[in-house]
Amino acid sequence: MKKIVILGSTGSIGTNALDIIAKFPGTFQAVGLTAGTNVEKLEEQIRAFSPAAVAMADDAAAARLRARCKGLTTTILSGADGLRQVATMPEADLVISAIVGGAGLVPTLAAIKAGKFIALANKEPMVMAGRLMQDEARKHGVRIFPVDSEHSALFQSMEGHRAEDILRLILTASGGPLWNMTKEQLQHVTVEQALKHPNWKMGDKITIDSATLMNKGLEVVEARWLFDIPASKIEVVVHRESIIHSLVEYQDRSVIAQLGLPDMRTPIAYAMNYPARIPLDLPSLNLAQIGTLTFFDPDHDKFPCLGLGYEALRTGGTMPAVLNAANEVAVQAFLDRRIGYLDIAGTIRRTMDAHQPAEVATIEDALGADAWARAKSGEIVDSLSTSPSVVH
Ligand SMILES: NC(=O)c1ccc[n+]([C@@H]2O[C@H](COP(=O)([O-])OP(=O)(O)OC[C@H]3O[C@@H](n4cnc5c(N)ncnc54)[C@H](OP(=O)(O)O)[C@@H]3O)[C@@H](O)[C@H]2O)c1
Repeated sequence: MKKIVILGSTGSIGTNALDIIAKFPGTFQAVGLTAGTNVEKLEEQIRAFSPAAVAMADDAAAARLRARCKGLTTTILSGADGLRQVATMPEADLVISAIVGGAGLVPTLAAIKAGKFIALANKEPMVMAGRLMQDEARKHGVRIFPVDSEHSALFQSMEGHRAEDILRLILTASGGPLWNMTKEQLQHVTVEQALKHPNWKMGDKITIDSATLMNKGLEVVEARWLFDIPASKIEVVVHRESIIHSLVEYQDRSVIAQLGLPDMRTPIAYAMNYPARIPLDLPSLNLAQIGTLTFFDPDHDKFPCLGLGYEALRTGGTMPAVLNAANEVAVQAFLDRRIGYLDIAGTIRRTMDAHQPAEVATIEDALGADAWARAKSGEIVDSLSTSPSVVH
C-alpha cells in the first residue's frame, strides 16, 4: 500500500489524483491532504478518505473546517507550518505536489528534504528554483516524477535510452483557445474566451497560461531542470489535437513519442505508481477516428510569453522566479478583469526589464526575487488597470 500526501487536493490535479486513489483502495491510501481556502471540498474529502492529517493555508478557513469536522479523527492544521507538517508526514511514501503557483515551493522543498518521493504537477517551484530543488533531491535520494502530461511523455520516451544520445526534446503545445485569433482580435479577448480551453479541463491559472502560451514557457524551464537538458535542445511545436504529448529525438534521428487521449489521470497514475501501470477505465485512443494530427511552429509575435520563458531561462539566476511571479500577478489581474489579455505579456516584459538578476543559491534568494517581482508587477498592474484595454 502506497501512502500518499496531496498538496493541493481540492484542485483539478488533486481531485483527479483522489479519483485514482478511490478506484484503487488496495494500492493507494491518502494519508494527508492540503488546500488553500476551499472548506467545503476539503471537508468532503476528509469524510471520503479519512486522512490522518490535513492542512489549510488559510487560518480562518481551517478554523471553519475544524468546526465542521468535530468528532472526526483527522488532525486539522493550518498556515505555512501546517502545510509543511503534512508535506513531511513520516508515514508518507509519495507527495503529489499540486498546489498552483509559487505557493507550492516551500512545502514541496520541505517534502524533498524529508526524503519523500515527489509526483510533480506544480511546475512553478521548478521554474523559481529548479537547480536548488534538484540539488536537494539528489542530496536526499529523492526521485521527482513528472505529472505534467508533456514531461510525463518526455520521461516515458526516455525510458531505456541513454541521456547522452538525446538530440532534442520537443514539447507539444495545444495552442490554447486563442490560437486562431488575429492580433487585432487578441486585443479584445474576454476572460470567458481565454478560459475556454479546447482540450483540457484545468484550474483557471494554468488555463490562462495556456491561452498566452506562458504555460509552454514555464514548461521549457521545467524540462530544463527535470531532465538536465539545456534550453538550446528544447523545442516547442504546436499540435492542436493534444494527442502526441511530447517527443524525444535521438542522435540516430529516431524520434520517440508518447500518445494518448488528453486525460490527466494517465500521467498522474504513471507518476503515482511508477514503473507499474494502472488499468485505468478510460476510452482507448482511436487514431482512425481522429484522422488528422496537425503541427505548427509557435507564433512568437502573437504569443510572446513563450519567448519570455526562453529568455528567462537563458538569463538564469533569479530571472525565472521573476518571470513566474510577474505572470501570477498579471494572470490574477486579468482574471479579476483589472487588465486586458495583452497586458499579461506586457506586465511580465516590464517586470523582467526592471530586474537585476542575481544567483539563486538558497530558497531565500528565490523567495526574495518572487516578492520583489510581485511588488513590481503589482505596481505595473495598478498603473494599467484603468486602461481601456480591459474587456468587461
Ligand atoms: N490541471 C491540470 O490539468 C494541470 C496539468 C499540468 C500541470 N498542472 C499544474 O498543477 C498545478 C495545479 O494546477 P490545478 O489546475 O490543479 O490548479 P487548481 O485547480 O487551481 O488547484 C490548486 C490547488 O492549490 C491550492 N492552493 C491555491 N493557492 C494556495 C496557496 N496559496 N497555498 C496553498 N494551497 C493553495 C488550491 O486550494 P483551494 O481549492 O482551497 O483554493 C487547490 O487545492 C499547477 O502548478 C499547474 O500548472 C495542472
